[in-house]
Amino acid sequence: MSHAEEDHEGDRRDFLFYATGGAGAVVAGAAVWPLVNQMNPSADVLALSSIQVDVSSLEPGTQLTVKWLGKPVFIRRRSAEEIEAAQGVEMSELPDPLADNANIAPSSDASDANRTLDEAGEWLVMMGVCTHLGCVPLGDAGDFGGWFCPCHGSHYDTAGRIRRGPAPRNLPVPVATFVDDTTIQLG
Ligand code: FES
Repeated sequence: MSHAEEDHEGDRRDFLFYATGGAGAVVAGAAVWPLVNQMNPSADVLALSSIQVDVSSLEPGTQLTVKWLGKPVFIRRRSAEEIEAAQGVEMSELPDPLADNANIAPSSDASDANRTLDEAGEWLVMMGVCTHLGCVPLGDAGDFGGWFCPCHGSHYDTAGRIRRGPAPRNLPVPVATFVDDTTIQLG
């Protein structure tokens, strides 16, 4: 059956065709999303609720930013120095004592091990949204070598924990997991 013939079968069939393509290949978004957006909005959200990110190109000490559910997400492969700095912080130095990590219990403390995705502490995944008023913090910046939000001067450390400034909370860690050695799934 040609695509033209499929078009006659109605919107639902069309939606399934395009949504499957969109969920499987994020890079195809430009061609796919306008079509999906004409359909049921809740289905649009569903297609975006979980994405997979190839992190094979990240060297230690670098990060990438992806857009997920309309917001930036920072994925950082931390250097040995960054890990050491974060692990050396006393809990008493942290304005927000909670991990703010959606993958573990809400009452977990903000120790470095409770912030990272892997046991070695190399991988840090966080929403790139300042917990003060929502600006996007800058990486490799600030007084603690992590992130700096220039809007009102919030400094985050190399584990994304707020250390100084008006932001009340650590940068939240979203639901995330490694699905293989080089692929992180968000959601
Ligand atoms: S929004 Fe980041 S410090 Fe105000």
